[in-house]
Amino acid sequence: MSELKKEILKRRTFAIISHPDAGKTTLTEKLLLFGGAIHVAGAVKSNKIKKTATSDWMEIEKQRGISVATSVMGFEYNDHKINILDTPGHQDFAEDTYRTLTAVDSVIIVVDSAKGVEMQTRKLMEVCRMRRTPVMIFVNKMDRDGRDPFELLDELEEELKINVRPLSWPIDRGQSFKGVYNIYEECLDLYTPNKQKVTESIAFKDISSPDLEGHIGNKLAAKLREDIELIEGVYPELDIETYLKGEIAPVFFGSALNNFGVKELLDCFIEIAPSPRPIEAIERVVRPEENAFTGFIFKIHANMDPNHRSCIAFVKICSGKFERNMNYKHIRLNRLMKFSSPTAFMAQKKETVDEAFAGDIIGLPDTGNFKIGDTLTAGEDLHFKGLPSFSPEMFKYIENADPMKAKQLQKGIDQLMDEGVAQLFVNQFNGRKIIGTVGQLQFEVIQYRLLHEYGAQCRWEPISLYKACWIESDNYEQLQDFKKRKAQYMAVDKEGRDVFLADSGYVLSMAQQDYSDIKFHFTSEF
Ligand code: G4P
Repeated sequence: MSELKKEILKRRTFAIISHPDAGKTTLTEKLLLFGGAIHVAGAVKSNKIKKTATSDWMEIEKQRGISVATSVMGFEYNDHKINILDTPGHQDFAEDTYRTLTAVDSVIIVVDSAKGVEMQTRKLMEVCRMRRTPVMIFVNKMDRDGRDPFELLDELEEELKINVRPLSWPIDRGQSFKGVYNIYEECLDLYTPNKQKVTESIAFKDISSPDLEGHIGNKLAAKLREDIELIEGVYPELDIETYLKGEIAPVFFGSALNNFGVKELLDCFIEIAPSPRPIEAIERVVRPEENAFTGFIFKIHANMDPNHRSCIAFVKICSGKFERNMNYKHIRLNRLMKFSSPTAFMAQKKETVDEAFAGDIIGLPDTGNFKIGDTLTAGEDLHFKGLPSFSPEMFKYIENADPMKAKQLQKGIDQLMDEGVAQLFVNQFNGRKIIGTVGQLQFEVIQYRLLHEYGAQCRWEPISLYKACWIESDNYEQLQDFKKRKAQYMAVDKEGRDVFLADSGYVLSMAQQDYSDIKFHFTSEF
């Protein structure tokens, strides 16, 4: 096997997603602990690690103390190279998370055992389903009084619309939580609430053995046997191919805070989760083991160094090997570029690297050359797809509040939109600019950054909109008629595509009914 292929097969690039507070940060911390990237679990408070490990980079975040940014943590574990892409917990930054999901090969979903599936998890799962991303589920906080595990499995299936297969099973829960039976490894992991120590497990192939009573008592032993019998009867054996297609999700139970059940999850993960997968470009499918380097920008991060107004463009390497100081082609600009200080993200640090392989994420210092979605190659003209924009949820007119700084404002808006901070629509009727975001906080971020980075001042004015939908049709006449009739509500996005700004759900459904040849899309990729 070639060196390149070996490197690629070692890699696991994934994101952990959850509803805020389910335990994503705690789980990330424990995974870093196993990788030796940090040394004492629990000693680092979760929100502290959020800051040091991920996102101390933007000043606004320091002020607000919430994770605005998405970043990467790489570490080695059992001869594998793990890249965890962190995603912002705050729902106002969901768009960042959606984009991050385009750069991962699989996903771990964390669910709180007491709360079950929450709103944000459901939304993120929809994105995974669209992309057929393989998903594993970790049911966390088993040390708390949670819900019945069978009930939780039903809810996972129903709410996340995916089949599930438990690979571990909890023995009681809450105060009397005794541990889990690891179905995958056939061993019994007994629980001692201890944040510093890694779980010890006892090989236990045959749960009908009377030894089980010795470990967990008569009542729980009987219950466990009954549960496992039910599981084997109801849930099909885990078929790894089906998991890789994103059709079935293995489920583990544990307590991230107590470092319980995490190693089991990680060990199974490195075994079955996919190494970098082929990625579709418009021209062809690109395979990771191809020799020539290709990659795309999925995230642009501003102001990592407060002393310089530079950005970092995050590149997912799709194929081959990236080398420092080599000439690569920036396809959109049709220009060769050389990068003398690419960074890799190991543990909590970023450091300059000489090479990186398909599956890795590298950071390239950027002074405005990159947009989200840009492709870099060793020379071939390729365009990676799959970075959709989602219809925003909130809209405001953006107005210039300092007439002397109109140019700065324009430049600032353009660059922030290229970074993917929000979406810009220009109303074709009155020429006014509308900014669409996922949440209120982004308006504040934009205003703050326009002022601090571009010296421009903006003012927001309300606009009542329900949704922005991209429209297209093969029926030219109907499309023209629609655009004429709805002229007041027609806008273009920054690529010049037609967007219909519907001011209510009713208006939208009437439009859909009356113009049956027009397709109304809620993502910009169709
Ligand atoms: P998030 O990134 O998904 O938002 O969640 P995070 O890991 O920050 O965890 C949210 C809260 O849940 C934290 O408590 C964390 O300690 C707690 N937690 C995580 N895993 C478990 C678990 O297995 N069992 C129990 N009982 N609690 C867990 P906090 O009080 O909000 O923060 P902190 O002061 O402990 O940092």
